[in-house]
Amino acid sequence: MSVNAPSRRVARLADCHNIEDFRLLAHRKLPFPVYHYIDGAGDDEITKRRNTSAFDDCDLVPNVLAGVEDIDTSVTVMGKKTPLPLILSPTALQRLFHWQGERAVAAVAEKFGLWFGISSLGSVSVEEVGARFTGPKMLQYYYHKDRGLNAALIEMARAAKFDAIALTVDTIVAGKRERCLRTGFTSPPKITPASFLSYATKPRWALDYMFREKFSLPNLERHVAAGTNVATSVADYFNTMLDQSMDWKAADKLRQDWGGTFALKGIMSVADAKRAAEIGVDAIWVSNHGGRQLDGSRSPFDQLAEIVDAVGDKVDVIMDGGVRRGTHILKALSVGAKAVAGGRLYLYALAAAGQAGVDRAVSILENEIIRDMKLMGAKSVADLSRENLRWR
Ligand code: FNR
Ligand code: LAC
Repeated sequence: MSVNAPSRRVARLADCHNIEDFRLLAHRKLPFPVYHYIDGAGDDEITKRRNTSAFDDCDLVPNVLAGVEDIDTSVTVMGKKTPLPLILSPTALQRLFHWQGERAVAAVAEKFGLWFGISSLGSVSVEEVGARFTGPKMLQYYYHKDRGLNAALIEMARAAKFDAIALTVDTIVAGKRERCLRTGFTSPPKITPASFLSYATKPRWALDYMFREKFSLPNLERHVAAGTNVATSVADYFNTMLDQSMDWKAADKLRQDWGGTFALKGIMSVADAKRAAEIGVDAIWVSNHGGRQLDGSRSPFDQLAEIVDAVGDKVDVIMDGGVRRGTHILKALSVGAKAVAGGRLYLYALAAAGQAGVDRAVSILENEIIRDMKLMGAKSVADLSRENLRWR
């Protein structure tokens, strides 16, 4: 835990002034198996740490006297104009983190006009999200062995008028998340005599879990029992349910079957980026799944320039991983990302305080983006470029 303020006591939402504060508050609120599921990553978590520290190897070089009273922070990404260059990455199981779950995240995304993603392993239905929330939304797609489920996911997204599908390509097998191996985290949580204490130490969470709407994975439950009715680790889910034969042909067929805006999430190599552009994807999401899959893999920020140079003129390049500050977002935009996404940056806040938490986290980032653009002398996102960056 890094303590860099004179007295850093994060006991309530009003104490949260940055994303790290929300992490500390989430740690206080969540049973430890749930906290470590969110915060944890693969193997030695080197990639997770590098995802954030990569931003420190590069400095912003500001311009001044630019007349920045009114600035424009909007970007156009995947065909939609959004007021901020921020996307809320799709993440699974959100009602386990706070009973408001995806509903809270969707409501905040709607308020700020941001793209957000519902995971295939989401705990609120695509149907409900489509009916309740306007604004740009995508279904994150896991390619299952069960062809009926695969077809149903496309139909769900279509019926609910989702704006895009993002096929995740970096989870062909599960990463080795050692924190989850130690805590025995499953979905739904298995509350056994052995695990009872780990959940009972956070009674607020336990009461919400027991007495509010029953936990389920509504987008999957008609096809698979795992995750909803049968307690399953995320690793077992990936390794038994997802189709390891998924290849470029399968990705292209999904793109065609869907017929709408389509992204590949988890592209890291230039060769794959070029191939993605060739099959006609609309966006490439440079990501290593928040360091939760292949530990020792490169950070998205380190890899971004190569990908932008290779395909940035053909597809929208998005990146996520390790983003915790407005300046991280500005650095990625300066390299050439169309928009910057993040998972934990809103998940800690969701766990800490539900919708009010997510709202505060996004407001803090909005504030940082505006302040930092003004300090950079950038009147619009188009003013940010590699001219304003220097690597150490
Ligand atoms: C994820 N991520 C993820 N990605 C995906 O494609 N489908 C999913 O269901 C999930 N679920 C999920 C759960 C949790 C708890 C986390 C932390 C992450 C990955 C996510 O979309 C994103 O790529 C990372 O979160 C980016 O890294 P940061 O922003 O968390 O550092
Ligand atoms: C994760 C999932 C579900 O990273 O993608 O845990």
